[in-house]
Amino acid sequence: MIDFYLNGQRRQCADIPPDTSALELLRIHLGQTGTKEGCASGDCGACTVAIGTPDGSGELTYQTANACIMPAHQIHGCHLVTVEGLARGDALHPVQAAMVDCHGSQCGFCTPGIVMSLFSLHESQRRAPAPLTPQRLEAALGGNLCRCTGYRPIRDAALRMNDYPDTHPAWADDPQLPADVAALAHDATRQPPVAGETPEAYARPRDLAELRECRLQAPQARLVAGATDLWLESTQQLKSFDALIDVTRVAELQRIDENDDGWWIGAGVTYRRIEPLLEEAYPAFSHLMHRFASQQIRNRATLGGNVANASPIGDTPPVLLALDATLRLDGPDGERELPIGEFFLDYKKTALADGEFLSAIFVPKPTADRQLKVWKISKRREDDISAVLAAFAWRLEDGVMRDVHLAFGGMAGIPRRASATEAVLEGQAPGQALFATARATLRGEFDPLDDVRGSREYRLVTATNLLERLRLTLDTDNDPTTEVCLDAYAH
Ligand SMILES: Cc1cc2nc3c(=O)[nH]c(=O)nc-3n(C[C@H](O)[C@H](O)[C@H](O)COP(=O)(O)OP(=O)(O)OC[C@H]3O[C@@H](n4cnc5c(N)ncnc54)[C@H](O)[C@@H]3O)c2cc1C
Ligand code: FES
Ligand code: FES
Repeated sequence: MIDFYLNGQRRQCADIPPDTSALELLRIHLGQTGTKEGCASGDCGACTVAIGTPDGSGELTYQTANACIMPAHQIHGCHLVTVEGLARGDALHPVQAAMVDCHGSQCGFCTPGIVMSLFSLHESQRRAPAPLTPQRLEAALGGNLCRCTGYRPIRDAALRMNDYPDTHPAWADDPQLPADVAALAHDATRQPPVAGETPEAYARPRDLAELRECRLQAPQARLVAGATDLWLESTQQLKSFDALIDVTRVAELQRIDENDDGWWIGAGVTYRRIEPLLEEAYPAFSHLMHRFASQQIRNRATLGGNVANASPIGDTPPVLLALDATLRLDGPDGERELPIGEFFLDYKKTALADGEFLSAIFVPKPTADRQLKVWKISKRREDDISAVLAAFAWRLEDGVMRDVHLAFGGMAGIPRRASATEAVLEGQAPGQALFATARATLRGEFDPLDDVRGSREYRLVTATNLLERLRLTLDTDNDPTTEVCLDAYAH
């Protein structure tokens, strides 16, 4: 049973197979066809909906999601808002009115998704007014493609939406709704782990003990967190999932525990939640988050999913390798810790033993003398997968480089460090001749992939150029003008 609120109305949907997406639930099971399907892979934003969850203040916080790659069962205990739920009778929501007045729609296929992204922005503005900077607009709309209108009228609508009378949807006037959703969400946490009409089909364990038990009982079941990788196997490869174990409600996997040395980040923590921490601790890592997928994806996807997915082009593993992160694995034989460098064994093959899962990732605290640079090279700035990602960490001691970590994504079947090149730089003063040797070594220690994102040669040249960029950065760290120039290139 999926028990939730849709545009203020309680809905209970029984017999929903585990691999049904929220979009299929809406369009096929509930006949709500306002939400569109474009790409079915999280890339276009036509299917954007807003998910309202209690935030502890007595209100609901709304975050966007791509319904096409969101498991329908993850709506359980939430308030789902779709484009059908915004107008109040004939009175348009301010976002819709602004889109009409600014001519923000032509064929209209992308429009429901764009309206929902702007609705979420409007909601956050309503709760905490802040200037609509270009960066905020880009973040809010970066996951929505429009093929015919062009983005200027849409941006104009975003900039004008706050000038309209705040016509609420009728459900927003219901003072009881947040409490009702909170009660439903609370009930959901008290339900036994196995839900759904088919036993073991969609399990929602609440704590580590239940997760271990679910794994024992259904060893063939796939784990699902934000589903932003996993669900593509359904929509793009047309696989079906007979049994899924959802880790998003496991209390321990939702924790961020700080100690003197760093943070243990639960494998189920979303990017949205770690963004403030990274912004404070590692600006270079935080900057990567602006280049990582889209707001819709970052609202739901997890750091744990990125690591466990073990893609050679995943963005965070090289950064975690550069930072010497540690993984906590959990399973039938208990817990163990593993340096992330020992986790990736071969293409999509990890050190997870049968029945094991990733429970947390340890990110060490920054130290004053340790530097980190993260450079992502992709064809598009917004919402694109890396061709090459470089994460470099080092410290300078009496003018020589120490603890040099050079990690790359997109350069091999797994994310990995360039240990031979690190050895060239270790203990040496940076300089042109040294880096020329380092670049030659780097070329020799990788045999990169050759695919649509970049040829083998392109990736080799890019990686060596990024190493040269590191040298320029080291040379020019005290020259603010050149830094600005380099930063402009990075953005
Ligand atoms: C449009 C789009 C853009 C994207 N852009 C980027 C990008 O810019 N950079 C990038 O790196 N990635 C990108 N991705 C990929 C994806 O968003 C990330 O890899 C994300 O971090 C996956 O997290 P998730 O929680 O959604 O994982 P899921 O999809 O839920 O799971 C991924 C895999 O990990 C397994 N798994 C999940 N949790 C655990 C656990 N605790 N223990 C063991 N196994 C587990 C699952 O079984 C599955 O095999 C993009 C995806 C989409 C659809
Ligand atoms: S249909 Fe394109 S993102 Fe969902
Ligand atoms: S209005 Fe046609 S795709 Fe945006």
